[in-house]
Amino acid sequence: MCGIVGYLGEKNTKEILLEGLKELEYRGYDSAGIAVLQNGEFSNYKAIGKLVNLEEKTKDFVTSGFAVGIGHTRWATHGKPTELNAHPHLGESSYVVHNGIIENYALLKKELMADGVTFLSQTDTEVIVHQFEKNLKIEKSAFEAFAKTISELNGAYAILLTTKSQPKTIFFAKHGSPMLVGVNSDNEKFFASSDTPLIGHATDVNYFEDGDYGFVSSDEIAIFDKNNTKKEAKYSKLSQNKLSAQKEGYRFFMEKEIYEQSDVIADTLMGRLSDSEIIFDELDKELFNGINEIKLCACGTSYHSALSASYLFERYSKIKTSVEIASEFRYREPIMTQDTLFVVISQSGETADTLETLKMAKNAGLKTLVICNVDNSSMVRLADATILTRAGIEKGVASTKAFATQVTVFWMLTLYIAKLRNSLKEEEIIRQISLLREVPASVKVTDQMHEKLKRLSKRYLHGHGFFFIGRDIFFPLALEGALKLKEISYLHAEGYPSGEMKHGPIALADPELFTIALLPEHLHYEKSKSNVEELSARDSTICAISSIEFDKADDFIQISKCKDYMLEFFEMMIVVQLLSLEISVRLGNDVDMPRNLAKSVTVE
Ligand code: F6R
Repeated sequence: MCGIVGYLGEKNTKEILLEGLKELEYRGYDSAGIAVLQNGEFSNYKAIGKLVNLEEKTKDFVTSGFAVGIGHTRWATHGKPTELNAHPHLGESSYVVHNGIIENYALLKKELMADGVTFLSQTDTEVIVHQFEKNLKIEKSAFEAFAKTISELNGAYAILLTTKSQPKTIFFAKHGSPMLVGVNSDNEKFFASSDTPLIGHATDVNYFEDGDYGFVSSDEIAIFDKNNTKKEAKYSKLSQNKLSAQKEGYRFFMEKEIYEQSDVIADTLMGRLSDSEIIFDELDKELFNGINEIKLCACGTSYHSALSASYLFERYSKIKTSVEIASEFRYREPIMTQDTLFVVISQSGETADTLETLKMAKNAGLKTLVICNVDNSSMVRLADATILTRAGIEKGVASTKAFATQVTVFWMLTLYIAKLRNSLKEEEIIRQISLLREVPASVKVTDQMHEKLKRLSKRYLHGHGFFFIGRDIFFPLALEGALKLKEISYLHAEGYPSGEMKHGPIALADPELFTIALLPEHLHYEKSKSNVEELSARDSTICAISSIEFDKADDFIQISKCKDYMLEFFEMMIVVQLLSLEISVRLGNDVDMPRNLAKSVTVE
């Protein structure tokens, strides 16, 4: 999501911060800012939009000699992308930058406001700097005030803080959001949320662990762990290859993004789950008044997540739901009724066909909601309400983590509406919330699984086609699996409902037809199994994905035993994504930039 940088040294602080932010700009470009402390005085600049705006604003700002500086490029989570909401945030004499979400910010803010503190922004981050300054008045040192502040925060964070009360120091803390510190022989210190900004500057880096906090000065890097025990930095050499650094050791962005799904789903859930209800601070419950139907509209992968959602809305929220392909919907003179909530789903928020349907719904006077990964995108600006998926920038053209976070948002929204409509018992909502908490763990890629799929992929390179089959919500997952494979392998693949094969496509079955069968234990297992057996009897080559051993399969990919079909859904999602990736790799294709495709389709 956001990106942060920090610098302590004698070189050109402004340039080092701006260059670092440039490397991180892909993580968020709603706004950016820097704060530099030199000769006891702060200089602070912020600008909304891309980094060039900040570069323009700082063109006459000169830094020379020793300085400390922090910088941030923002992907808005709390509060609109405005200059006031841009980081760094100021207290009385300190500045802070932060990635992540402070879950208990509302409570801390209330207490601080009761003490007379004035807040300038709508962000959760601003509480950090005010809480620090409150503690500074009580504690013996700036470090103790910082340590106390960190112990009072819940949530995920990577934080850098500078203060006039200890001007030659940067305070840092990391929990749940990445951060590292780099050093070199010129006694400079660099911070960033990934290693690319440090390339060409630092030679050795220490990646902070969750719970680490401390301070950095010219003389010292003091790191404390979550038990407040001082520890040594563990340095490793920093690779000086930028592209491979951005990929963080993965071969492709798509691979990195598949692995990242556990983290981005956790980000998407963050602050939105209580024990017994879903919290969407961004939604006004009024949006659902008078609504008797939900219409979901999207393209490609986002359409598949919408299709998945339709099963959940009808099953759990007991609300009539229909799903539309945007490029079809816009030209088919659809009937739109005012009791319909019109929901568009888009990673980019810019897809031309989807945007057009949103305009149509608005013109017809419908209430509208967008589920989107890019704040301030055209769809977000247009819709009545927005829920942001927090997938961060997706670089691989074949979408993976955007899909995962969209389905996560939809599952939460289902429960949110179920609560409003009283369509699920409280115990069931509680049970499903606890399942939602298990999703980040269930999508963690294991070495064993990845190795198995790498090996298996060599059997699936030729033949005359693939059918991905599944029932119920596993049908849209089958569609998504087939789309992933098509996009990056250029092999023909179709997603089909398992029960529909016998109505025609089974005629294609022979050993050269590959069937990827999704067989969840907890949803229509027996029925799906019979459909796969029908294909196996006709000699199709079967690759079954299930937690239950299946002896009619040529290949079997075992997923873990879990409590609910939704957890099976997420684990199978990982399997189909990785299988497509490995087939594409073996075929020697460009995984991240497949032929003929573009990341954001802003034309019809
Ligand atoms: C597939 C893929 C596309 C997009 C589609 C819609 O991997 O990425 O199918 O899902 O072009 O894009 P958004 O979600 O940005 O509206």
